[in-house]
Amino acid sequence: MYSFKNDYAEGAHPNILNKLIETNLVQQGGYGDDDYSFEAKNILRQKMNNPEAEIFFLSGGTQSNLIVISSLLKVYEAVISARTGHIFANETGAIEATGHKVIAVETTDGKLKPADLQKTLQEYSLKPHVVKPRLVYISNSTEIGTIYSKTELEALSDFCRSKDLLLFLDGARLGHALTAQNNDLTLADISKLTDVFYIGATKNGGIIGEAVVFNQPKTAEDFDYVLKQKGAMLAKGRLLAIQFLELFKDDLYFTLAKHANVMAAKISDAIKLKGYSFLTDSTTNQIFPILPKEVIEELNKKYAFYVWKDIDKNTAAVRIITSWATDENKVNEFITALKEI
Ligand SMILES: Cc1ncc(COP(=O)(O)O)c(C=O)c1O
Repeated sequence: MYSFKNDYAEGAHPNILNKLIETNLVQQGGYGDDDYSFEAKNILRQKMNNPEAEIFFLSGGTQSNLIVISSLLKVYEAVISARTGHIFANETGAIEATGHKVIAVETTDGKLKPADLQKTLQEYSLKPHVVKPRLVYISNSTEIGTIYSKTELEALSDFCRSKDLLLFLDGARLGHALTAQNNDLTLADISKLTDVFYIGATKNGGIIGEAVVFNQPKTAEDFDYVLKQKGAMLAKGRLLAIQFLELFKDDLYFTLAKHANVMAAKISDAIKLKGYSFLTDSTTNQIFPILPKEVIEELNKKYAFYVWKDIDKNTAAVRIITSWATDENKVNEFITALKEI
């Protein structure tokens, strides 16, 4: 059985493992006060063309979302998210457990637009009887594989700035978004247009790790206290830093993400050739083809993937995910199996 269920089915890129072994006995300071953290942060600041950026290495996406969001909001403030957004759909109420409402907005493509925010602000304008929307949560790529264009992100950013809303971008799959064939955003654009974002390594070659970036130092004020108090500041912070060091020093991060996208595109093309349609217009490493149920059953004999959504009696949308480590031979075998059905 070969798995297309997620992009964290494999361990880590060998360069990271080798660097961990090579540096294993080098003594360093704890809690991020180590040479690898300093170097990795400097490389990232250069890549995003923002020497001011404050960067923290956290271990997971849910942890980053809940710690960043709860640290930035007052007790009565709320977050706006797409209904498909990870914080609303898949984090076991982690944000709500910190006391903040997540206002979910229906979207067709997983992306928030200024009009959605405007409508939400109107719905929550009965001050002080309703929560105050203060932070906008988006993901790039989104949970349904779509990406923001530069024009879309600029429009969202302008709107947020005009309404005093913070813009937070979940980049658990930022590499996949920035290497998609229709992408026109750069890391520097993301740093300019958002208040906070993160660069995910867990789903792109790292063992674990998300680099949380505050674009202006003022927004990061006291974040180190929050991290430590929540138990998210690792004594061996060097382990997280080494992953970003290896992933970014030669742009390996982008090479790996691109591989995942290319593998997904290969599968997409074969599915299109068979005449099937897709639930979402994804150009990244998560695709959602709509297949007859007997085709799903046949493919499932050799390949694991999630059935995402029932469409009707005879068809369902499935989610196929490729990763930095997806074996192209397995992709070719999958395509042959599909053709033969
Ligand atoms: C967009 C996005 N954000 C956050 C997460 C959560 O990451 P973790 O499982 O590391 O908590 C995921 C996980 O799939 C995700 O897809």
